[in-house]
Amino acid sequence: MQPDATRQALPARAPSPPSPLETRIAQAVQAAGGWLPFDRFMHLALYAPGLGYYARDARQFGLLPGGPGSPGGGSDFVTAPELSPLFGEALAVQVAEALRHTGGDEVWEFGAGSGALAAQVLDGLARLGQPLARYTIVDVSGALRARQQARLAAHAGVVRWVDALPDAMAGVVIGNEVLDAMPVKLLARTGGVWHERGVALSELFEPSALAWRAQPAIESEANPFTWADRPTDLRPPLEVPGTHDYVTELHPQQRAFIATLAERLRAGPGGAAFFIDYGFPEAEYWHPQRSMGTLACHRAHRMDDAPLQDVGEKDITAHVDFTGIALAAQDAGLTVLGYTSQARFLLNCGIAARMEAADLPTRANAMKLLAEHEMGELFKVIGLATGEGWAACGFAQGDRCHAL
Ligand SMILES: C[S@@+](CC[C@H](N)C(=O)[O-])C[C@H]1O[C@@H](n2cnc3c(N)ncnc32)[C@H](O)[C@@H]1O
Repeated sequence: MQPDATRQALPARAPSPPSPLETRIAQAVQAAGGWLPFDRFMHLALYAPGLGYYARDARQFGLLPGGPGSPGGGSDFVTAPELSPLFGEALAVQVAEALRHTGGDEVWEFGAGSGALAAQVLDGLARLGQPLARYTIVDVSGALRARQQARLAAHAGVVRWVDALPDAMAGVVIGNEVLDAMPVKLLARTGGVWHERGVALSELFEPSALAWRAQPAIESEANPFTWADRPTDLRPPLEVPGTHDYVTELHPQQRAFIATLAERLRAGPGGAAFFIDYGFPEAEYWHPQRSMGTLACHRAHRMDDAPLQDVGEKDITAHVDFTGIALAAQDAGLTVLGYTSQARFLLNCGIAARMEAADLPTRANAMKLLAEHEMGELFKVIGLATGEGWAACGFAQGDRCHAL
């Protein structure tokens, strides 16, 4: 992430009035006394009702670049279930095994996107003869519900949507690329001193009028927001040796989410959870050389490092600290079933045989799920369960729990 907004290497945009979302966030900055911690900014940018990136009825994921429309077929990024149906079919093998082990008959999916993964898992479970009473979708954004309902019309009797979690849950939880969409705190070590990085209003912006004080001279300065650092006692979980400048993220919301999930699963008869996302164990996350952190924005299949620009028009994400997820789960009484790369997990779940039986385009896309230079190695899977757990099939070979 680039600490200085004026150095962002993005095409300049014409000065224009702040958008309704920028105005909403500027009001929040004002109400907070002129400084918002970055996690609060990220929450509003992604989830402000009716305005945030995920709270609008816009197509964010789905088509590959070069598809109908332009650019990127109208989407911003492609996720594994959008890339290949074999992703969800392989995951269904692990879900079916977990349902048998925990005695459950319900799947919970967090952040179901277009509904593609739900359709694949439901079809996969049916093919495996695994009975299922309910498939429940939970998303902080309700904007995608209509799209999911259309996609899952064939499963209408089984699928339901909820806005809040019940006190007790049973069954198997899945989430693909959900953890990375949870707001993060930003830390910056500058001149050897740790700061929390937050967001303030630009000097060119008149907060009382929520408008430009003067027409920005340089187009790229037409941004109501600017970075502002405050000294903090917050630190990364691992010491980062050296005194060089260093920007990184902390993930309190991911940990809180896992703690809540664990509490609800433990209040019921038992269950398991599988999360797939990009990220690393803590030793890789807080490596001294990863000095710019992992915060990134995605728009039209391009990545940039300027979350304060074009707010609401692009996704903002950070990699997942899988050690933190495992520790949060264990602290809340769950067992870690395993942790491995996406490629290893899908192979353990039998994706290779499914690829052999598939046509060439399906096989080629499925290869992207496995290839080290595509999604196979950067993406990881972590499995969690109530009770003592079992030797879950997805981690049968290549389990990397020791690396957490
Ligand atoms: C990158 S999208 C992934 C969509 C889909 N899983 C896929 O793979 O195509 C992230 C989704 O997670 C949702 N999300 C983020 N935090 C969440 C939470 N705490 N509970 C449920 N959904 C959440 C977002 O609203 C968004 O729809």
